[in-house]
Amino acid sequence: MKDAAPQTIYLADYTPPSHLVDAVHLTFKLGATNTRVVSRIAFRPNPKAVSNVFFLHGEDLALISAKIDGQPITPDLSAEGLRCAVPDTPFIFEAEVEISPATNTALEGLYMSNGMYCTQCEAEGFRKITYYPDRPDVMAVFTVRIEGDLPVLLSNGNPVAAGDGWAEWHDPWPKPAYLFALVAGDLVAHSDTFITKSGRDVDLNIWVRPGGDEGKCVFGMKALKASMKWDEDVYGREYDLDLFNIVAVDDFNAGAMENKGLNIFNASAVLASPETATDANFETIEAIIAHEYFHNWTGNRITCRDWFQLCLKEGLTVFRDQQFTGDMRSHAVKRIDDAIVLRAYQFREDNGPLAHPVRPDSFVEINNFYTATVYEKGAEVIGMLKLLVGDDAYAKALDLYFERHDGDAATIEDWLQLFADTTGRDLSQFAKWYSQAGTPRITVTDDYADGTYRLHLRQETPATPGQDKKEPLLIPIAVGLLNNNGAEVVPTTVLELTDAEQTFTFGGLADKPVPSVLRNFSAPVIVHHERTNAERAFLLAHDTDPFNKWDAGRTLAQDLLMRMIRDDATPDEAFLDGLAAVLRDDTLDPAFRALVLRLPSEEDTAQTLFDAGDTPDPAAINQAHETLKLHIAQHLQDTLPRIYADMIVTGPYTPDAGPAGKRALGNAAVSLISKLDGGKQAARQFAQADNMTQQLGALRALLQISKGADELTAFAQQWQHDRLVMDKWFGLQVSLAAPDQAAATAKRLTAHPDFDIKNPNRFRAVFGGLKSNTAGFHHASGAAYDLLADWLIKLDPLNPQTTARMTTSFDTWRRYDTDRQDKMRAALTRIARTPDLSRDTAEIVTRILG
Ligand code: TRP
Ligand code: ZN
Repeated sequence: MKDAAPQTIYLADYTPPSHLVDAVHLTFKLGATNTRVVSRIAFRPNPKAVSNVFFLHGEDLALISAKIDGQPITPDLSAEGLRCAVPDTPFIFEAEVEISPATNTALEGLYMSNGMYCTQCEAEGFRKITYYPDRPDVMAVFTVRIEGDLPVLLSNGNPVAAGDGWAEWHDPWPKPAYLFALVAGDLVAHSDTFITKSGRDVDLNIWVRPGGDEGKCVFGMKALKASMKWDEDVYGREYDLDLFNIVAVDDFNAGAMENKGLNIFNASAVLASPETATDANFETIEAIIAHEYFHNWTGNRITCRDWFQLCLKEGLTVFRDQQFTGDMRSHAVKRIDDAIVLRAYQFREDNGPLAHPVRPDSFVEINNFYTATVYEKGAEVIGMLKLLVGDDAYAKALDLYFERHDGDAATIEDWLQLFADTTGRDLSQFAKWYSQAGTPRITVTDDYADGTYRLHLRQETPATPGQDKKEPLLIPIAVGLLNNNGAEVVPTTVLELTDAEQTFTFGGLADKPVPSVLRNFSAPVIVHHERTNAERAFLLAHDTDPFNKWDAGRTLAQDLLMRMIRDDATPDEAFLDGLAAVLRDDTLDPAFRALVLRLPSEEDTAQTLFDAGDTPDPAAINQAHETLKLHIAQHLQDTLPRIYADMIVTGPYTPDAGPAGKRALGNAAVSLISKLDGGKQAARQFAQADNMTQQLGALRALLQISKGADELTAFAQQWQHDRLVMDKWFGLQVSLAAPDQAAATAKRLTAHPDFDIKNPNRFRAVFGGLKSNTAGFHHASGAAYDLLADWLIKLDPLNPQTTARMTTSFDTWRRYDTDRQDKMRAALTRIARTPDLSRDTAEIVTRILG
């Protein structure tokens, strides 16, 4: 059924539920197109209710029968749910509904993926399974019986009993419906056990479909055990069931889902082998496994009162998984990686039509708010809080969180109160980070006289949709001062910027120091700091803070690219020599050196130019990037072969940070070498590679110089039976196509027999690839805009969530010249006018068009 006029939901309208649920019993009689769901729900009036009107959510359900306390009833049904009269005392509601998982292409609720039944209920998918108060502040104990002719039948919690064709599960921990899960299929497990700190045995399983994936679970299992141990060691959190299941699913809208005791994963977020996954894939998998596992406490034991509080669980859990990755690998490299991601996705969001606060105050479709702002900026806000109160106070506040709110559906106010209580600090100004959208700009100026150095900081946040006026935030700015020899004369100090303008004074300095501002990226802000390239090169060479050392190189590169685009400047020696010095410095982590060598993305340059008041020209940006890469390759000509040779890893492949960093630098080197040798070295690497990191790195280097046709064919032949590897094959061709070929390449690939519109990974490979090819996506012909719009219109009736997400590719339309703007607006308008457009996509197009 299609939605009526979309309704906006407001945080301010929150009211407690009319009824609470003591226990739920569900029976699933599985059938591909006719699954019966029988529910028995024990309700009682909520003493805190403001209304006693009884309403159960339910969508796309065929109601067979309903009863209250055993008496059949005829409820009022609407597209959103069910209403009926109920007693004002506790009662039992029973219903039987029929649903059709095999035709559920939205991948929300109960659906089928390659013969396997599975569920996705966050945020509001449970209402597509049965009638229920589908809101996170209604928590209940679930008992589930599954009847079906399949060997493996799984649900949340612990197994109670099982027989031929049925199984029963009981989850003792009260939970909201969004954490419900069911999986049924012909599956095999990769199993292990974990002994918790109090000595309990936990059975661990990673379930996959038989036929090739069994061998790809070893790394995921290792990551799971490391996560369990880490959460005990660092946060004191122990696992709370006898069993922890992970299931890999081929068709999935996101990365993974933290259902209690039964995490469901996009196969791409859990399965890996050296031959099929890159080092970057391994690191991502480790982080996602940790993320979902950490949700067991931050999300499940303590959940969210309503969906406006999403960052309560997501910001905190991302922050925790970032800490974990830092501990497992390198804190410096992880911080740089996270800043790159934040700037690329969250800054883009914050500076465009889709900007919203970390805690939004209204939404039409909550699925549209699983964003970089809620997740990544939400994590930054926690990092700032920790920096401001200190590590000890943070640990105390977190202990108090688990003690005070275990079993609760909590709010951001509850969260901030913990820090007020443990530190005695007034955090009301800090709280604005949750309600004020937009990226603050920090303008830095300084002066020096008579031994005193003064740093002047000014903050300003540009207007965002619905928020014209911005107030000053409390921003932690970590600063260090270096002398002219590169020695640190003032070690890292956290300045608390609270006013629109503020001056900080440092005394007793013999000379004017060189400031290193926003060390370790201490706040999610953009720093404007007019300084000479000599000063930046000095910081690239000498800063003791790895983030700012890297960022100095980044700023130099961005600055140079801007001058190349605006004034036809040629790359200067200062930058190239600085780069060469870092590259040759064997005391530096290869992973770090690879990051310094990586230029800002073309998208990044477009964003920076727009921010500076220019109208970015994607073709000119692409040209400047290509020219600069060639200059770098030529300048480093003598060093690159030596670096390449030094980065060869001997011995069996492991995805650990050490060898992965070497391969990253080796791949960066081979991509530059290709600019000079026509791809000889890359072709050799491709032929000899025994792992995906080097195979793909070589293929990428070849495609970047418009070579590699034979390698592409060989790659497809080798991997045609491996979906996840073929996603790379689809994606790479589009993302690295020449700008005038990008749309044509994407179009050709949509006609490939293995293209499947219903599989989000494959759809994203092609069209995410197209979006990431900045010059190709924005090619003046507008071909890519039209192609993407065509396919979004086709996908929307099948899968609204993925359509809405991919529609955000157009969110930068206002940056560009009128011709491109017209073309993008036409594409967006075409989407907007599609009959029966989903609420998800309609909200995104409306917001983008403004
Ligand atoms: N809660 C999940 C996570 O952060 C993500 C999630 C939200 C999701 N909605 C989803 C996953 C829809 C799949 C489909 O880990
Ligand atoms: Zn999450």
